[in-house]
Amino acid sequence: MQFTKLRIPKGTQDYYFDYLEKRSYIENKMRKNFELWGYKEIRTPTFEYFESLATGTGLELQESMFRFKDKGGRQLALRAEMTSPIARVVATELRSHPLPMRMYYLAPMFRYEEPQSGRQREFWHAGIELFGSSLPDADAEVLAVFITTLDDIGLKGVSVELGHVGLFKSIVEEAGLSLDEAAAIRRSIDKKDDASLETALKEVDVSSAMKDVFRLLPKLRGDISVTKKILDNVDNENVEICIKNISDTVKLLELYKLDSRVMVDLGIVRGIDYYTGAVFEGFVKDLGTALGGGGRYDNLVGEFTGESIPATGFAIGVDRCHLALEKQGFKFPLKNSPQILILYIDQELKGEAVKIAVNLRKLGLSTEIDILERKLTKGLEHANKRGIPYVVIVGKTEFEQGEVVVRNMEKEMQEKVKIEKLKNYFQK
Ligand code: HAM
Repeated sequence: MQFTKLRIPKGTQDYYFDYLEKRSYIENKMRKNFELWGYKEIRTPTFEYFESLATGTGLELQESMFRFKDKGGRQLALRAEMTSPIARVVATELRSHPLPMRMYYLAPMFRYEEPQSGRQREFWHAGIELFGSSLPDADAEVLAVFITTLDDIGLKGVSVELGHVGLFKSIVEEAGLSLDEAAAIRRSIDKKDDASLETALKEVDVSSAMKDVFRLLPKLRGDISVTKKILDNVDNENVEICIKNISDTVKLLELYKLDSRVMVDLGIVRGIDYYTGAVFEGFVKDLGTALGGGGRYDNLVGEFTGESIPATGFAIGVDRCHLALEKQGFKFPLKNSPQILILYIDQELKGEAVKIAVNLRKLGLSTEIDILERKLTKGLEHANKRGIPYVVIVGKTEFEQGEVVVRNMEKEMQEKVKIEKLKNYFQK
């Protein structure tokens, strides 16, 4: 392993400058929308005991966790998602906090996965969790926050696919299988992979009618009427409850005028175990993978302390949103900083140059001052290279008249400006 000191691990990235400015734009919009809906920020540790982070998640997520031991031999891991840690906080420190409780987060997550476009080993989640209501009103609210957040950052054509994990679980039960025995079927349905679904179905001993129901699930996508097809094929009370829940959620979304953005997909099973109810994923055409996903998880808090609290939420992949915005040609409003570079020709004028810089910053103008004692031509060359739009030149002759030279780099024009008029000059 040579030269590792010059490289960074696979699936990680250095972020800087314009990229980060665009990133902050996205994050600020997300944060603003979460807060508009009454959500408050929560942060949990980046690493925790593996046992705690693993709670309720299932093998697929656990196998993707970066695990390590501390010096005392305790099993730790980097968090791969925030829902379990937040459920831990709700089950412990926030146990007597009034319900419902709305929280949001913006934080890096870590998963040991094969990196590809939109899939890294370190990536950011922006998510919300809503505790304390088992009504579809909570599911509809979470979906509405999801859609409006993706709209607010500037994405076009966001749509959501809504399903219900209870459906798959009820059908598995009806087929007489355990969830472990049906794990391969679940993965194939999740990926809508017909070939692997056939292989998985060959491995299980269930009636051919039930196999047909499994085959049907990934094909049931469309408006709410697709729910009828499953009811025509399975006679099971739990399935009926799940379908009613989906219909109620879509009806509530009509109140937000967002129902047209939601498509029913009864094949959504999600890769994490804790889900118990309505689940969803969001997409735009320009990106082949999900922008984010979430759903209801009524038993997770109970897995920590035995006392359940109904909950629902989502996490948006911030990196994927950034990628999708770039693909859609979104024009990010960049701040273009710094706006001004101050050069002083004479060492004696350093103090005056600093004073001018301080005053310009007070006006909210991002201002740099030369710290290399550059000559004028070198200073101007530097401003050009960096794309700094204005240079303020503090020279002795002008300064004695109470003036400086302001050079507009783009127009290649300069003029003398009274120091006390700099404010007016730049505010123009
Ligand atoms: P998730 O579907 O595993 O859900 O992740 C949510 C989103 O994170 C994905 O849709 C995707 O945009 C992004 N994401 C996942 N893995 C990667 C990766 N390796 N690289 C880049 N982006 C990635 C959860 O994590 C649940 N905790 C969501 C939730 C909150 N459910 C209820 N509350």
